[in-house]
Amino acid sequence: MSDDRHEGAAKEYSNGEVTVVWEPKKCMHSGICFAGLGKVFNPRRRPWVDLSQASTEAIVAQVKECPSGALSLKGEASSTVVEAERIVEVSPNGPLLVYGNVTVKRPDGSETKHHKVTAFCRCGASGNKPYCDGSHRKVGFTG
Ligand code: FES
Repeated sequence: MSDDRHEGAAKEYSNGEVTVVWEPKKCMHSGICFAGLGKVFNPRRRPWVDLSQASTEAIVAQVKECPSGALSLKGEASSTVVEAERIVEVSPNGPLLVYGNVTVKRPDGSETKHHKVTAFCRCGASGNKPYCDGSHRKVGFTG
């Protein structure tokens, strides 16, 4: 059986607000995308990406968690890794965006490395702390 997640050229998926680019050859099978947003990223479904299943903010936040760069947002260079300067951006009424390579250390000693952009929750409502999962919109976070 052919597995369209791991073959061929890049594919694009759009919901009219954002376009997600999928580059199968870059995937390192972390499973972070479908663990975080399984309704959108479902490897058992064809096509496996369905952007109608979540808000644009949730999708953007999840795509930014992709550690390999296999998932990226159109217009954002997926292979770009900020080397020297780290930029922290406060998203209005939303997450803290950290650009560049960061390592998140958890109290249990585990570490997760992130490249490109990482969205950290500022509202306190995320079900995936310390990361943003789009819940700030549901709770009407302002700040
Ligand atoms: S800032 Fe997005 S869920 Fe909290």
